[in-house]
Amino acid sequence: MTRTAYRAALLSVPEDPANGGVAQAHADGLLVVEDGHVVAFGDDAALAERFAGVPVVDLSGRIIVPGFVDAHVHYPQTDRIASHGEQLLSWLERHIFPEEARFGDRAHADTIAAVFCDELLRNGTTSALVFATVHETSVDALFEAALARDMRLVSGKVLMDRGPETLHDTVAGGRAATEALIARWRGRGRGRLGYAVTPRFALTSSDAQLADAGAILAAHGHVLLHTHLAENHGEIAAVAGRFADAVDYLDVYDRFGLVGARSVFAHCVHMSDRAMARMAGAGAGIAHCPTSNLFLGSGLFDLAQADRHGVRVGIGSDVGAGTTFSILATLGEAYKVAQLRGATLDPLRALHLATAGGAAVMGLSDRIGALQPGQEADFVVLDPAATPLLARRTRGASLADTLFALQVLGDDRVVERTYVAGKCLYDRNQVRSAAV
Ligand code: GUN
Ligand code: ZN
Repeated sequence: MTRTAYRAALLSVPEDPANGGVAQAHADGLLVVEDGHVVAFGDDAALAERFAGVPVVDLSGRIIVPGFVDAHVHYPQTDRIASHGEQLLSWLERHIFPEEARFGDRAHADTIAAVFCDELLRNGTTSALVFATVHETSVDALFEAALARDMRLVSGKVLMDRGPETLHDTVAGGRAATEALIARWRGRGRGRLGYAVTPRFALTSSDAQLADAGAILAAHGHVLLHTHLAENHGEIAAVAGRFADAVDYLDVYDRFGLVGARSVFAHCVHMSDRAMARMAGAGAGIAHCPTSNLFLGSGLFDLAQADRHGVRVGIGSDVGAGTTFSILATLGEAYKVAQLRGATLDPLRALHLATAGGAAVMGLSDRIGALQPGQEADFVVLDPAATPLLARRTRGASLADTLFALQVLGDDRVVERTYVAGKCLYDRNQVRSAAV
């Protein structure tokens, strides 16, 4: 039994403020961790006596928040971030499919998986729902990298039997690889990993493969369904052309049994009220990816529409279409997208979406996202004075106002430390001193 206490300002937003949830904020707080789990989270004055004798890490002047949850990201696209000049379908053809074709090479996949996991940690992201590639071993590479760091990642082999020549599977091959991965990565000794059945999107799978994905999902009660939905006008027109009798894009997935409480759909930028109501009824979740939607010119996600229907929302970086691994910076862009929609995004709600909200979308609310006693101790230490400008802007500011400044002005520079299951896996100051 090893107990450690962390003294800092604490912020956590377990329930969505849009539904009456209230932020748990402690300007002078104490977080107590034992064997990778949270034991206590509250005011230092209230807890100090109970935990007298427990070694204290003094992080005064910093803010501890739950580890960020990236609800949609593509690890094989790490090296193609910031690729110029296209919208979704031609961007995939020109920049992404050639890159993903390289992941049949296990050594390459291992290299990028390690870079990716470390980049998540540098940005305070401790959990993520991750696209791999069509190659079975691309998932092995990622899961091994995550296991070595004890990170809570959920991923799956991409199903795409209608993909390009260099990047496709078959219905039978896709099913066999998916079943093998589910069997291989389950159970004792497999860390905090989870599996997601991952058809790329409606256009790259045959009807038979989409039906098969639905059957695999139904057969395994613990796996998620992870795909893209209603991102871009050209994509939506192509889906409507192929599935002429479907009511809308969501209906295509629905017909194959892919819309349920374990389904996570990235983007959902262009949704009818019918589709949003159906998502709410099914309990499906959305990964809102603002930097990607701006970068590819896809459109402006309507958070207010999702709220009206009561659809659960998390935040995704969607690298490589997304332009940053920083979930803080992604929240700054989510704020601007909301502004362009005539709405506003409260910084505490934004923090909720990026932590407990993402955890809920991934079905992990009982374990991560809020630093409640009993939850896993994944947390981030933020430095509000990380840059001279931030130091000026946040001096004397309230916690909520400081958080907003960190979302608009911050990125990996403000992440001082990242803890995964109670262990410090990233320390900005040690990296800096090692570099000198
Ligand atoms: N739709 C299908 N594949 C992709 C992808 O790799 N990135 C994004 N943003 N959208 C997709
Ligand atoms: Zn994506």
